[in-house]
Amino acid sequence: MPTELCHFNDIPEGESKGFTVDGLALFAVKKDAELYLYKNECPHLGVNLEWQEDQFLDLDGDLIECSMHGALFQITDGHCIAGPCQGEALQPLPWKMDDGRVYLL
Ligand code: FES
Repeated sequence: MPTELCHFNDIPEGESKGFTVDGLALFAVKKDAELYLYKNECPHLGVNLEWQEDQFLDLDGDLIECSMHGALFQITDGHCIAGPCQGEALQPLPWKMDDGRVYLL
């Protein structure tokens, strides 16, 4: 059963937002008008990534950053390009948009 997360416009361009659905922590990033959804779990130690509520990106907003040890992940595919889990990746989550609303599938 798809779960509604938010409206597409609730996430400003270049920003991120965290959610919890039935105990599953996840987050979304909007970049270049595209949305990317990942499980909120660092492949290094399995912790949540954000340093503060809804803050998942590095200072430039170009990469996802784990606040624990600074691993950096590409926004578009979750691939870790630097840090202790380099070569691993965040887990993307399936979602759909319907009438401007974002649903976790
Ligand atoms: S727990 Fe994320 S980089 Fe170590």
